[in-house]
Amino acid sequence: MSKLFTPISFRGLTLKNRVIVAPMCQYSARHGLANDWHFVHLGRFALGGFGLVIVEATAVTPEGRITYADMGLWEDAQIEPLKRIVEFLHAHGSAAGIQLAHAGRKASSTIPWRGAFNETEAEKKALAFESWTPVAPSTERHMASFPLPLALDHAGMARIRDGWIAATKRSLAAGFDMIELHSAHGYLLNQFLSPIANRRDDTYGGSLENRMRFPLEVAAAVRKAWPEDKPLFARISVTDWIEGGNTVEDNVEYAKRLKEIGYDLIHCSSSGFDGARIPVGPLYQVPLAEAVRKGADVATAAVGLITTAQEAEHIIALGQADVVALARQALDDPNWPLHAMRELESGDVYAAWPEQAGYAVRNKDRALKK
Ligand SMILES: Cc1cc2nc3c(=O)[nH]c(=O)nc-3n(C[C@H](O)[C@H](O)[C@H](O)COP(=O)(O)O)c2cc1C
Repeated sequence: MSKLFTPISFRGLTLKNRVIVAPMCQYSARHGLANDWHFVHLGRFALGGFGLVIVEATAVTPEGRITYADMGLWEDAQIEPLKRIVEFLHAHGSAAGIQLAHAGRKASSTIPWRGAFNETEAEKKALAFESWTPVAPSTERHMASFPLPLALDHAGMARIRDGWIAATKRSLAAGFDMIELHSAHGYLLNQFLSPIANRRDDTYGGSLENRMRFPLEVAAAVRKAWPEDKPLFARISVTDWIEGGNTVEDNVEYAKRLKEIGYDLIHCSSSGFDGARIPVGPLYQVPLAEAVRKGADVATAAVGLITTAQEAEHIIALGQADVVALARQALDDPNWPLHAMRELESGDVYAAWPEQAGYAVRNKDRALKK
């Protein structure tokens, strides 16, 4: 059996393989509610054989959405449509995870494929358009095109932490197997962590210890609200890729502290601030997952331009990470794990397909003498 298709366990959860779908915002929700788009988008990954599907950045408070069309879990009505998705993922052999997030000063942004706030009045109504003033550690915008945020006081921070706790309980009610804490990509928790965005002069700013304080308080509150037998992942930006920003060493320390609190895996991404110089290319973030795995002695997920079965197999076989996460490659090929099995596994790989399709694809391949 390949390493990639060897099951792996985190607390009481066993994934059937080590290929996971990374969270991907769809900018397709109204009032934070999941709908049929999310059901089909996520459901097809379960049919495609992924061991774990992580639902997109889901806002813990309304002002924490990146855009007005983000998903949310700030009220009970948002549980039911997610529950339907979780049940489908489970019925088709995938574990179900959700990324809980707050965008901080990057909130109230534009929908990426629009590139600007160019919604017509009719569209605004149909899309439930909203814009608002974001909150952040300090009164500094992300970029010139972003709104100026209000700086959070301690009461505001406590309200957001409580939002994370409530969303954690709602995730449990929806049936999720794991939660991923979003503390990467220049969003709120990353803004506290990084000197690029954190200019505070209270106990939450200045030294690394102080900058880690709020993210770790939130992380601990989520751990306390989530059952002991269920795992937690945290997504971090392992480096800011900016002179004067956080380094790999800073984030190895952060990963150690997350592990101490009870986080089971660190999902190793990078960057999120304006001015980052990112050496983008195949597997460009894999060394970051390896550095955190060795430096913090914690399980990691590697992500970022991992596209082939052989690459993914090597990452696991070489001990660079414990699981691999795919985003754009999963959009490109939602059946990626089933196709990777054909390359890496022997025996009847068609048995891993949904029964409605496996026999037919087997017949097709036989007819073509593959
Ligand atoms: C459409 C899209 C939406 C994304 N949304 C999220 C998100 O909600 N949360 C997050 O942490 N990363 C998000 N990302 C980043 C991906 O999870 C992933 O880290 C990144 O795309 C690199 O992996 P890839 O090369 O396999 O696409 C998104 C990426 C894409 C392409």
